[in-house]
Amino acid sequence: MSLRTPANGSTGYVEDVSPGRGTLPPRAWYASSDAASLSLNGTWRLRVSQAADAEDDAFAAPGYDAGDWPEVTVPGHWVLQGHGAPVYTNHLYPFPVDPPHVPDENPTGDHLRVFDLPDGWPAGGDAVLRFDGVESCARVWLNGTDVGEFKGSRLPHEFAVGRLLKPTGNVLAVRVHQWSAGSYLEDQDQWWLPGIFRDVTLLHRPAGAAGDFFVHASYDHVTGEGTLRVDSGAGGRVTVPELGVDVAAGEPVTLPVQPWTAETPRLYDGVLATAGERVPLRVGFRTVALDDGVIKVNGTPLLLKGVNRHEWHPRTGRALDLGTMREDVLLMKRHNVNAVRTSHYPPHPAFLDLCDEYGLWVVDECDLETHGFVEQDWRDNPVDDDRWTPALLDRAARMVERDKNHPSVVMWSLGNEAGTGRGLTAMAEWIRDRDPSRLLHYEGDQGCRDTDVYSRMYPPHAEVERIAKGLDGGTHRGRRLPLILCEYAHAMGNGPGGLAEYQELFETYDRLQGGFVWEWIDHGVEHPDLGYAYGGDFGEELHDGNFVCDGLLFPDRTPSPGLTEYKKVIEPVRIEAGAADGTVRLTNRYDFADLSHLEFAVFHQVDGVPLGARPLIVPPLAPGESAEVALPEAPDGGGGEVQWTVRALLAEDTPWAGKGHEVAWAQRTVARRAPLPAAAGVRPVLDGDRITLGPAVFDARTGAPLTLAGVPVHGLRLDVWRATTDNDDGAPWQPDARYGPLWRELGLHRMQHRLDSVGTDDEALTVRTRVAPAGREAGLRTAYRWTSDGTRVRLTVSVVPEGDWRVPLPRLGIRFGLEGTPEDPVRWFGGGSESYPDTRTASRDLLWDASVRDLQTPYVRPQENGARGDVRRAEIGGLRVDGDPVFWFTARPWTTEHLDAARHLTDLTPGGTVWVNLDHRQHGIGSQSCGPGPLPRYHLWPEPAEFSFVFSQPRD
Ligand code: GAL
Repeated sequence: MSLRTPANGSTGYVEDVSPGRGTLPPRAWYASSDAASLSLNGTWRLRVSQAADAEDDAFAAPGYDAGDWPEVTVPGHWVLQGHGAPVYTNHLYPFPVDPPHVPDENPTGDHLRVFDLPDGWPAGGDAVLRFDGVESCARVWLNGTDVGEFKGSRLPHEFAVGRLLKPTGNVLAVRVHQWSAGSYLEDQDQWWLPGIFRDVTLLHRPAGAAGDFFVHASYDHVTGEGTLRVDSGAGGRVTVPELGVDVAAGEPVTLPVQPWTAETPRLYDGVLATAGERVPLRVGFRTVALDDGVIKVNGTPLLLKGVNRHEWHPRTGRALDLGTMREDVLLMKRHNVNAVRTSHYPPHPAFLDLCDEYGLWVVDECDLETHGFVEQDWRDNPVDDDRWTPALLDRAARMVERDKNHPSVVMWSLGNEAGTGRGLTAMAEWIRDRDPSRLLHYEGDQGCRDTDVYSRMYPPHAEVERIAKGLDGGTHRGRRLPLILCEYAHAMGNGPGGLAEYQELFETYDRLQGGFVWEWIDHGVEHPDLGYAYGGDFGEELHDGNFVCDGLLFPDRTPSPGLTEYKKVIEPVRIEAGAADGTVRLTNRYDFADLSHLEFAVFHQVDGVPLGARPLIVPPLAPGESAEVALPEAPDGGGGEVQWTVRALLAEDTPWAGKGHEVAWAQRTVARRAPLPAAAGVRPVLDGDRITLGPAVFDARTGAPLTLAGVPVHGLRLDVWRATTDNDDGAPWQPDARYGPLWRELGLHRMQHRLDSVGTDDEALTVRTRVAPAGREAGLRTAYRWTSDGTRVRLTVSVVPEGDWRVPLPRLGIRFGLEGTPEDPVRWFGGGSESYPDTRTASRDLLWDASVRDLQTPYVRPQENGARGDVRRAEIGGLRVDGDPVFWFTARPWTTEHLDAARHLTDLTPGGTVWVNLDHRQHGIGSQSCGPGPLPRYHLWPEPAEFSFVFSQPRD
């Protein structure tokens, strides 16, 4: 074995800052209509070694016998296929920071695939071998010839290989290194996942093939005309039959067209025919401009209702099939999302095709992040070191050239969290020169020197408003630009809270053009024992725990309550009570579409039971227009609560949802329920060690209820604790108080309940207690007053805080246990979906039925979840509870303490008890796992409170 000489040894390229060797210049990504191609996806042979130079090149030679190597699926990551393990860090490099050096321990996967050319593969012409994504560095041999190597994981790389091909027995050998100089540019907050994770394709390139081309398709909203010009290196003709276009490449043609927008994604099919091939085009006419300090498309300002999307699948990591990509787009469209930031790298190109087709505004972000340099005050940051600039320019070019023909892409983003430096400026200059038709984004450029928008992450509401008013926010130049929140509302665990208030700001100020919730999906890894694994579950030396699970979708793509909330908050039709009684006011909040694609329905409900729905005739309002429409007469509720619900539904099937899909809704109460009966008049009776009060029995010594309305209950007492959410725990870098840790420090999770007295009089049993944590003076004087009318029992809880309280309470209410199982039915009248004070917009009142199990929200790291708000009454385990006033209802088959201690859902096992929380109030949720905490109005400060519940037997 020879000594290792990194600079010029056979693996020297691994630590070389250059983007690669031997690759073709970047170009547009397309699938030819007639040129042959061969997918090399499928089963390959794999050998993993632990160092870049542990094995020699012999495997690349034809005839090498890899028959005893394990098989691996390409596209895929070997660490998710039983070889090694994934590593999760947020911003820390999982290796010493000494650019461009990487550790000796550098898992290296030698991939081997033997293939024949299919019958009919043309004899002439060239061929290109395309890799759409390999992490992080690859060296490639075909039939024993070294064709080159490359870095830039989520970008395409091509080699000309025609001269090397044989009809049969071609040997393709790819050596993939987990770590390389490129890793320094790819420090995104995600799993480190080496492998050939996107397609590998062999493309025949006939003589006269199109090569690269650039579709320029603008729209003039004043004339209603589009101008199409297709620049093609190989010349050729451009036809768009629907428009009667038949022009030479490079020749502009202007004619009346329907524009493309994300709401009305009108595409025209065309063809670019060069001497050697026909290339399908999908032309969308639109013009993006910065005008008057706002982003306009086709002359109209945009409001971005976006999400940050990482590519993720719980089994295959960043190797996504088309079905999964489509599912993402459909889910976005069905949840009213209109924009995607491809955080933090260009996605698989097929995803952008789907965005063109279904309609989403895209901010296409380059594969660049150097966040780990923040640990050394950005010293030696590659983006400010000229040696790295070629690599940065290479990345910019590979993104822009690949994706430039997508109408959905309206902004290029230089990357994420890479500090500032000359390299970024060079990228910006290159991109502006190559494609002046789109805007430029980069959040790290707070001075907006290189960018067209002032972009921020996680600013609190108040700051957003100050920026909107021009009172704050960046440099002079930045203040004249639109504000985009490229990340806000951190959807980690339960939350995010405060979405509605952000949206209100976005809709109030022109300069605010919306944002992108962080983030689309939890990156949980399917795990045989843990359910979904997160950072640390693979024994990583450094890791950031479940910070990788912060999406609006659970890892299996089930929408979380956060997504339901977001859908409601950004709904494109606002439905409110009208100014006149019995009317509803509807406002079109689309930017481009009128309401003719929607139909409206209205129904009334009494105590949550809906009466028949009827159509509601709404004029086809233009964007921004409102109308007031009369509602049918409300029924007489006979003492029950009467509410109306108006729904906006798709009138016809669309490509993304069927007729009847709900786009927007609203609900209002028009007649309140009659007050609850006092439930008094019966005397408590002492009988040995029991006290009987109507249908309730109590322990005479402690005053604790043993049965209520005939149902055994245990452990009923005041409860202020919740299993802290990720947002309660907060992020260490957040400047505001982080209440999760403060609650624990104070001891709210171990409150002691001291009994002060149990007393009876003619009409009530009164139990007085003091609830407080050890070691502190702060406490809650609590009185439970029980009365009954013989069939019902009423509990009134009075709470008076004592001492010096410096933190809000997590919750304020009672909890008790009922015998039961997760399958037990629950029925309640109140909000149907999980909600908390600042996540309750989507909570819809109805009489709901579910099981206890259904009420649990499966946050990957277990935490407080599942509360239903505005509950008037609930029935569970044979007990009916009516609230005075309404309450938050939670039922779970384990205790809060159990939930609090669990790290994974698999740690939670039901006992024979269902624990019920009836809360008077809850503390808000906020977004402090990365951003601001709950708004002050959602803080639950200790103050004197009184609330009641009436227990009885269910009536039916
Ligand atoms: C941002 C970053 C994201 C992610 C997020 C927190 O700073 O851009 O990649 O780390 O915070 O989840």
